Amino acid sequence: MSAIPVTVDRAGLWDAETLSDVAAATFPLACPPDLASEDIETYIDEVLSDERFGDYLNDPDRTVLKAVADAQIVGYAMLVAGGPRDPVVARVIEPRPVLEISKMYVLPGHHGTGVSTALMAAALDHAHSDGCAGAWLAVNQQNARAQRFYTKLGFRTVGTRTLTVGSTVCDDYLMQQAF
Ligand SMILES: CC(C)(COP(=O)(O)OP(=O)(O)OC[C@H]1O[C@@H](n2cnc3c(N)ncnc32)[C@H](O)[C@@H]1OP(=O)(O)O)[C@@H](O)C(=O)NCCC(=O)NCCS
Repeated sequence: MSAIPVTVDRAGLWDAETLSDVAAATFPLACPPDLASEDIETYIDEVLSDERFGDYLNDPDRTVLKAVADAQIVGYAMLVAGGPRDPVVARVIEPRPVLEISKMYVLPGHHGTGVSTALMAAALDHAHSDGCAGAWLAVNQQNARAQRFYTKLGFRTVGTRTLTVGSTVCDDYLMQQAF
């Protein structure tokens, strides 16, 4: 698909249902191929429902950014302030204060068009204007496309962690960039 104009703005409560739909459509793309579909469905139901997005949008520590193209939400990023809560992550990630880029998902028809780059630029702008010294994220070890994207945009791998999806333990890389 060729590039079309995209705007990135902070999402509001009224976006919860659409964000949940985009999240359900894109989360499976980030999963390792051997992850059971039941585990993926459980995660979508428990973590990516419109009710949960309502919670995220009301959480003062979270900022949800939406990417809009042709008047449709085609991607989103979720940012979390306050530093890593998982001690495994906190030991590895160095910058403080640091912003977590907790989710970065774009509909497949808009991959490679600049939508993701615009979302990441807005996320890093947010980190800068919040006075952060850097940003961090986690990415599945088998998600080579996302790793390449993050590396292009200045992140480097500094460690690993595990994430439970449904009943399966998945292996992530931890990536950070210091400003
Ligand atoms: C991750 C994501 C946001 C990146 O956005 P994108 O628009 O695809 O990113 P780009 O096209 O700018 O960059 C991807 C890079 O990976 C490369 N790539 C594509 N497939 C690849 C593969 N299988 N292995 C390695 N690199 C790959 C592309 O060629 C490109 O690199 P290049 O610009 O040097 O050619 C998007 O792909 C996405 O939403 N994926 C599904 C959800 C997901 O995985 N989110 C991340 C969760 S941590």
